[in-house]
Amino acid sequence: MMMYHEPVLLHESIEALNLSAGGIYVDATFGGGGHSKELLKQLGAQGKLFAFDQDADATNNTISDKRFMLIGHNFRFIKRFLKYYDAMPVSGLIADLGISSHQINVAERGFSIRFDCCT
Ligand SMILES: C[S@@+](CC[C@H](N)C(=O)[O-])C[C@H]1O[C@@H](n2cnc3c(N)ncnc32)[C@H](O)[C@@H]1O
Repeated sequence: MMMYHEPVLLHESIEALNLSAGGIYVDATFGGGGHSKELLKQLGAQGKLFAFDQDADATNNTISDKRFMLIGHNFRFIKRFLKYYDAMPVSGLIADLGISSHQINVAERGFSIRFDCCT
């Protein structure tokens, strides 16, 4: 598992979803999976969670759980994928928008000028 940050307001944001045990949920920005893991803890056996992240590194953090599916695409395609998986309508969606600390802290990715990696 790569270094990802502990999501800010993790419990508060999951609580705000007011989960129903058998509901269908979306994590639009999976990243290190912090929100998804917490959501799965509270979801019942019949619940489903679809997560999206367009960063290939994030897909390495996938969670092995039969209620969970990670889709390695931009979340602008959410509707298309959910229709395909017959998962509409959803009970709730969480989006932790932005980039992750992992993306900044890996020098080779070139997001930060703190590193002198690529000369
Ligand atoms: C702040 S991080 C999410 C952290 C995550 N909640 C966690 O618990 O680790 C944002 C993530 O959203 C992803 N992302 C940003 N824009 C996206 C988009 N349009 N479609 C899919 N993923 C996107 C980034 O690749 C990044 O992994």
